Amino acid sequence: MRRGDAQRIARMSRDLVEHGLPWTWTAQRVTTHIRGRDSNVLGAWYEERLVGFAIMQFYAERAHLNLLAVQPAVRRLGIGQRLVEWQEQVARAGGIPVVNLEVRANNPGAQAFYRRLGYRQGEHLPGYYQGREAAIRMNHDLWQESASG
Ligand SMILES: CC(C)(COP(=O)(O)OP(=O)(O)OC[C@H]1O[C@@H](n2cnc3c(N)ncnc32)[C@H](O)[C@@H]1OP(=O)(O)O)[C@@H](O)C(=O)NCCC(=O)NCCS
Repeated sequence: MRRGDAQRIARMSRDLVEHGLPWTWTAQRVTTHIRGRDSNVLGAWYEERLVGFAIMQFYAERAHLNLLAVQPAVRRLGIGQRLVEWQEQVARAGGIPVVNLEVRANNPGAQAFYRRLGYRQGEHLPGYYQGREAAIRMNHDLWQESASG
Protein backbone atom coordinates (compact mmCIF):
# COMPACT_ATOMS: atom_id res chain seq x y z
CA MET A 1 0.00 0.00 0.00
CA ARG A 2 1.02 3.62 -0.46
CA ARG A 3 0.94 6.50 1.97
CA GLY A 4 -2.12 7.90 0.17
CA ASP A 5 -4.08 4.80 1.26
CA ALA A 6 -3.44 5.32 4.98
CA GLN A 7 -6.61 7.30 5.64
CA ARG A 8 -8.85 4.66 4.06
CA ILE A 9 -7.20 1.87 6.01
CA ALA A 10 -7.47 3.84 9.25
CA ARG A 11 -11.18 4.43 8.66
CA MET A 12 -11.73 0.74 7.96
CA SER A 13 -9.96 -0.08 11.21
CA ARG A 14 -12.14 2.40 13.12
CA ASP A 15 -15.37 1.05 11.63
CA LEU A 16 -14.68 -2.67 11.24
CA VAL A 17 -12.12 -3.56 13.93
CA GLU A 18 -12.04 -0.93 16.69
CA HIS A 19 -15.76 -0.11 16.83
CA GLY A 20 -16.82 0.65 20.42
CA LEU A 21 -13.20 1.28 21.47
CA PRO A 22 -11.01 4.37 21.19
CA TRP A 23 -9.58 4.73 17.66
CA THR A 24 -5.89 3.87 17.88
CA TRP A 25 -5.08 2.93 14.26
CA THR A 26 -5.05 6.48 12.97
CA ALA A 27 -3.77 7.42 9.50
CA GLN A 28 -0.51 8.53 11.11
CA ARG A 29 0.02 5.13 12.74
CA VAL A 30 -0.84 3.29 9.52
CA THR A 31 1.61 5.53 7.63
CA THR A 32 4.36 4.55 10.08
CA HIS A 33 3.76 0.91 9.12
CA ILE A 34 3.58 1.64 5.37
CA ARG A 35 6.98 3.34 5.63
CA GLY A 36 8.45 0.95 8.20
CA ARG A 37 11.02 -1.55 6.98
CA ASP A 38 9.80 -4.27 9.37
CA SER A 39 6.10 -4.07 8.39
CA ASN A 40 4.02 -5.06 5.39
CA VAL A 41 0.75 -3.28 4.73
CA LEU A 42 -1.11 -5.36 2.18
CA GLY A 43 -4.33 -4.38 0.42
CA ALA A 44 -7.05 -6.39 -1.34
CA TRP A 45 -8.83 -4.82 -4.30
CA TYR A 46 -12.17 -5.84 -5.75
CA GLU A 47 -13.60 -4.09 -8.81
CA GLU A 48 -11.00 -1.34 -8.28
CA ARG A 49 -12.07 -0.69 -4.69
CA LEU A 50 -9.99 -1.29 -1.60
CA VAL A 51 -11.99 -3.94 0.24
CA GLY A 52 -9.53 -5.35 2.73
CA PHE A 53 -6.08 -5.04 4.23
CA ALA A 54 -3.65 -6.82 6.54
CA ILE A 55 -0.79 -5.29 8.51
CA MET A 56 1.98 -7.64 9.62
CA GLN A 57 5.09 -6.73 11.58
CA PHE A 58 8.18 -8.92 11.41
CA TYR A 59 10.58 -9.50 14.30
CA ALA A 60 13.58 -11.83 14.51
CA GLU A 61 11.70 -14.86 15.83
CA ARG A 62 8.04 -14.09 15.31
CA ALA A 63 5.69 -12.08 13.19
CA HIS A 64 2.70 -10.24 14.56
CA LEU A 65 -0.53 -9.73 12.65
CA ASN A 66 -1.43 -6.26 13.85
CA LEU A 67 -4.62 -5.67 11.94
CA LEU A 68 -6.90 -7.35 9.42
CA ALA A 69 -10.28 -6.45 7.96
CA VAL A 70 -12.45 -7.19 4.94
CA GLN A 71 -15.48 -5.10 3.98
CA PRO A 72 -18.75 -6.84 4.98
CA ALA A 73 -20.08 -6.91 1.38
CA VAL A 74 -17.24 -9.17 0.21
CA ARG A 75 -16.74 -11.46 3.21
CA ARG A 76 -16.67 -15.26 2.92
CA LEU A 77 -15.07 -15.04 -0.51
CA GLY A 78 -11.62 -16.06 0.65
CA ILE A 79 -10.15 -12.54 0.71
CA GLY A 80 -9.21 -12.60 4.41
CA GLN A 81 -7.55 -15.99 4.00
CA ARG A 82 -5.52 -14.83 1.00
CA LEU A 83 -4.35 -11.72 2.87
CA VAL A 84 -3.16 -13.73 5.88
CA GLU A 85 -1.55 -16.47 3.79
CA TRP A 86 0.31 -13.90 1.67
CA GLN A 87 1.73 -12.33 4.84
CA GLU A 88 2.61 -15.75 6.25
CA GLN A 89 4.53 -16.56 3.08
CA VAL A 90 6.74 -13.54 3.76
CA ALA A 91 7.33 -14.78 7.33
CA ARG A 92 8.21 -18.26 6.05
CA ALA A 93 10.61 -16.82 3.47
CA GLY A 94 12.32 -14.95 6.31
CA GLY A 95 12.66 -18.11 8.42
CA ILE A 96 10.23 -16.85 11.06
CA PRO A 97 8.64 -19.80 12.90
CA VAL A 98 5.56 -18.27 14.54
CA VAL A 99 2.86 -15.74 13.83
CA ASN A 100 0.78 -14.39 16.67
CA LEU A 101 -2.06 -11.93 17.06
CA GLU A 102 -4.66 -10.66 19.49
CA VAL A 103 -8.34 -10.72 18.72
CA ARG A 104 -11.25 -9.30 20.71
CA ALA A 105 -12.61 -11.95 23.09
CA ASN A 106 -16.13 -11.05 21.99
CA ASN A 107 -15.37 -11.70 18.29
CA PRO A 108 -16.07 -15.42 17.80
CA GLY A 109 -16.32 -15.05 14.01
CA ALA A 110 -12.74 -13.84 13.68
CA GLN A 111 -11.54 -16.51 16.13
CA ALA A 112 -13.21 -19.19 14.01
CA PHE A 113 -11.58 -17.68 10.92
CA TYR A 114 -8.11 -17.85 12.50
CA ARG A 115 -8.65 -21.41 13.77
CA ARG A 116 -9.57 -22.43 10.24
CA LEU A 117 -6.21 -21.02 9.11
CA GLY A 118 -4.30 -23.08 11.68
CA TYR A 119 -4.11 -20.64 14.60
CA ARG A 120 -4.41 -22.06 18.11
CA GLN A 121 -5.89 -20.25 21.06
CA GLY A 122 -3.35 -18.97 23.60
CA GLU A 123 -3.62 -16.66 26.59
CA HIS A 124 -6.73 -14.81 27.65
CA LEU A 125 -5.71 -11.18 28.21
CA PRO A 126 -8.21 -9.32 30.43
CA GLY A 127 -8.40 -5.55 29.78
CA TYR A 128 -6.03 -5.76 26.80
CA TYR A 129 -7.90 -3.04 24.92
CA GLN A 130 -7.47 0.16 26.97
CA GLY A 131 -8.50 -1.69 30.13
CA ARG A 132 -11.99 -2.07 28.67
CA GLU A 133 -12.11 -5.35 26.87
CA ALA A 134 -10.36 -8.69 26.88
CA ALA A 135 -8.35 -10.20 24.05
CA ILE A 136 -7.45 -13.74 23.10
CA ARG A 137 -3.92 -14.32 21.86
CA MET A 138 -3.68 -16.79 18.98
CA ASN A 139 -0.56 -18.44 17.58
CA HIS A 140 0.28 -20.14 14.32
CA ASP A 141 3.31 -22.44 14.31
CA LEU A 142 4.52 -22.20 10.71
CA TRP A 143 7.42 -24.65 11.10
CA GLN A 144 5.39 -27.41 12.70
CA GLU A 145 2.90 -27.10 9.86
CA SER A 146 5.65 -27.31 7.23
CA ALA A 147 7.17 -30.32 8.99
CA SER A 148 3.85 -32.14 9.07
CA GLY A 149 3.32 -31.39 5.41
C1 LIG B 1 -12.33 -11.97 10.03
C2 LIG B 1 -12.43 -11.50 8.58
C3 LIG B 1 -11.15 -10.72 8.21
C4 LIG B 1 -12.59 -12.71 7.64
O1 LIG B 1 -12.50 -12.26 6.30
P1 LIG B 1 -13.22 -13.07 5.09
O2 LIG B 1 -12.66 -12.55 3.82
O3 LIG B 1 -14.69 -13.06 5.25
O4 LIG B 1 -12.70 -14.57 5.38
P2 LIG B 1 -12.57 -15.77 4.33
O5 LIG B 1 -13.65 -15.67 3.31
O6 LIG B 1 -11.17 -15.81 3.82
O7 LIG B 1 -12.84 -17.01 5.31
C5 LIG B 1 -12.13 -18.22 5.23
C6 LIG B 1 -12.77 -19.22 6.16
O8 LIG B 1 -12.70 -18.76 7.52
C7 LIG B 1 -13.91 -19.15 8.22
N1 LIG B 1 -14.66 -17.94 8.60
C8 LIG B 1 -14.56 -16.68 8.09
N2 LIG B 1 -15.40 -15.84 8.71
C9 LIG B 1 -16.06 -16.58 9.62
C10 LIG B 1 -17.07 -16.27 10.57
N3 LIG B 1 -17.57 -15.02 10.71
N4 LIG B 1 -17.55 -17.26 11.36
C11 LIG B 1 -17.07 -18.52 11.27
N5 LIG B 1 -16.08 -18.88 10.36
C12 LIG B 1 -15.60 -17.92 9.57
C13 LIG B 1 -14.71 -19.98 7.25
O9 LIG B 1 -14.31 -21.34 7.43
C14 LIG B 1 -14.25 -19.45 5.91
O10 LIG B 1 -14.41 -20.40 4.87
P3 LIG B 1 -15.89 -20.63 4.20
O11 LIG B 1 -16.42 -19.25 3.87
O12 LIG B 1 -15.56 -21.46 2.98
O13 LIG B 1 -16.70 -21.33 5.24
C15 LIG B 1 -13.69 -10.58 8.39
O14 LIG B 1 -14.83 -11.25 8.89
C16 LIG B 1 -13.60 -9.22 9.06
O15 LIG B 1 -13.05 -8.27 8.50
N6 LIG B 1 -14.14 -9.11 10.30
C17 LIG B 1 -14.17 -7.82 11.00
C18 LIG B 1 -12.79 -7.37 11.42
C19 LIG B 1 -12.09 -8.43 12.27
O16 LIG B 1 -12.71 -9.10 13.08
N7 LIG B 1 -10.77 -8.57 12.04
C20 LIG B 1 -9.97 -9.58 12.70
C21 LIG B 1 -9.50 -9.16 14.02
S1 LIG B 1 -8.22 -7.92 13.88
